[in-house]
Amino acid sequence: MEVFKEIFPLQSYLQEHRKSGKSIGLVPTMGALHKGHLSLINEAIAEADVVVCSVFVNPTQFNNAADLDKYPRTLEDDLKLLEAAGCSAVFCPSVDEMYATLPVVKFDFGNLEKVMEGSFRPGHFNGVGIVVSKLFNIVNPDFAYFGQKDLQQYVIIAQMVSDLSFSVKLRRVPVFREASGLAMSSRNRRLSDAAKEQATSLYKALQLCKEYLHNGTDLDKLKRDAWKVMEENGVQVEYLEIVEPATLEPIENISAHKSVAICIAAYIEGVRLIDNEIIKLDF
Ligand code: PAJ
Repeated sequence: MEVFKEIFPLQSYLQEHRKSGKSIGLVPTMGALHKGHLSLINEAIAEADVVVCSVFVNPTQFNNAADLDKYPRTLEDDLKLLEAAGCSAVFCPSVDEMYATLPVVKFDFGNLEKVMEGSFRPGHFNGVGIVVSKLFNIVNPDFAYFGQKDLQQYVIIAQMVSDLSFSVKLRRVPVFREASGLAMSSRNRRLSDAAKEQATSLYKALQLCKEYLHNGTDLDKLKRDAWKVMEENGVQVEYLEIVEPATLEPIENISAHKSVAICIAAYIEGVRLIDNEIIKLDF
């Protein structure tokens, strides 16, 4: 596995592969890798000839300096995991390499960023848009892999790819969970064992929503009861939204929809977690 800290050596490496007709898959990450990230790497390996994983804690997407400081940085372990997984190359640039100057260009994703994460983390998706565009331009991948775990991020990147005609095919990889149902996240390592147990109530709430949707229970009761499942477990819920999975538009009446996404953000021991499930309505 090749490790690149700089853009130009990475580009010449990729140029060689491209010349011999190989396809390139990109998996953008901020490191502190876990099995959720590895599920993206595995999908990339199954589809692309050369797989590049980027590991970069992107300062422009953090609207809270403390959150940026606390973000786990575990590059040595990450490299071991990526090597064992069969990743071809890792791009782990410094902040200066990625941002010689701070970008002046700003993304405005309209309604897509006015809901959920966008409304609680102002400027966050601008930073994601900037760094992902830079990575697409640096790597020029045929395929790029993103997790459904960050559904809003995926939808926003899909919009950006379409609006700006990036020539990359996006893949959305399902949420990878612990056996307990807890969605894998780099932030889980900041949770005590007791908090991890409490955090499984996010998954339980999603399962309750699924059951209610299939029983035709009304959405107000669904929201109330799902919220209660989490609060009873000491979880502080920030939002629980029912949205259309491709447009993120809030859903008030499910009868006109084939599938809905239930999206949750919540705090446990001061750690902010998100989770979601896309539920097919087969009736
Ligand atoms: P990060 O949080 O490191 O996540 C990298 C990718 O892994 C994202 O596409 C995310 O959705 C996916 N992922 C994380 N946990 C997952 C899980 N349990 N199951 C499936 N996929 C999972 O998301 C980012 O970094 C950044 O915003 C980034 C896109 C790299 C831009 O800086």
